[in-house]
Amino acid sequence: MKVNRFQLFTTIPVATLLTVSLAGCQKEEATQSAGIAPKAMADAIHSVLEADRTVYTKKVITRLVKKEKVIKASEQFEDDKALPLPAQMFRFGSELVAEKDSGFSYSLQSLWPINKQNEPKTEAEKKGLQYIADNPGQNFYTEEELGGVNYYTAVYPDVAVAPPCVDCHNDHKDTPKTDFKIGDVMGGVVIRIPI
Ligand code: HEC
Repeated sequence: MKVNRFQLFTTIPVATLLTVSLAGCQKEEATQSAGIAPKAMADAIHSVLEADRTVYTKKVITRLVKKEKVIKASEQFEDDKALPLPAQMFRFGSELVAEKDSGFSYSLQSLWPINKQNEPKTEAEKKGLQYIADNPGQNFYTEEELGGVNYYTAVYPDVAVAPPCVDCHNDHKDTPKTDFKIGDVMGGVVIRIPI
């Protein structure tokens, strides 16, 4: 895993409010300043996003579509009365987070996206997606300034772990790339934290 020099110097201040109960029910409040390094925070968020996507794929899609065969998964899930695809579930969640206007954001992107909306836009995103494609197994960490705000930006590889990943993408009418293979980095999860 590549360690970027920024992570050594930047920490996100977190104000922790401690309420201390004293004898006689008297309360005293103290503010303690702790810190979470942006890299540790981005890595933790990524592990939750990854876990949720895996759980949805295994416990919902694979179980109901492949094993029980009671419903299909489809990109046009509303018209088809089907389950949304894992990448769509991921994007719907990220869109709700973006509405909160906290400055924190995440997205699943690719240099070869089926959905143009998932194309990298900032220089850091482009550089990061190229880096993880060229260096399999490694993450990419950097900082970027957008609209006068500094962000810590992390990019994690999204790998073709199973045949349906490559089959569906290679055959999709909107794909710009038709030769994905198992084990390829197909894109990446971009996490951006204001610092
Ligand atoms: C049944 C088809 C299907 C399968 C299976 C599938 N995808 Fe996708 N994938 C899509 C569609 C459609 C999108 C665009 C979703 C959206 O609207 O954002 C997408 C989006 C993505 C993106 C974001 C960039 C883009 O292409 O828009 C990545 C990265 C990705 N998928 C990787 C994977 C991986 C890795 C797997 C296997 C674990 C996988 N996909 C399985 C259909 C599929």
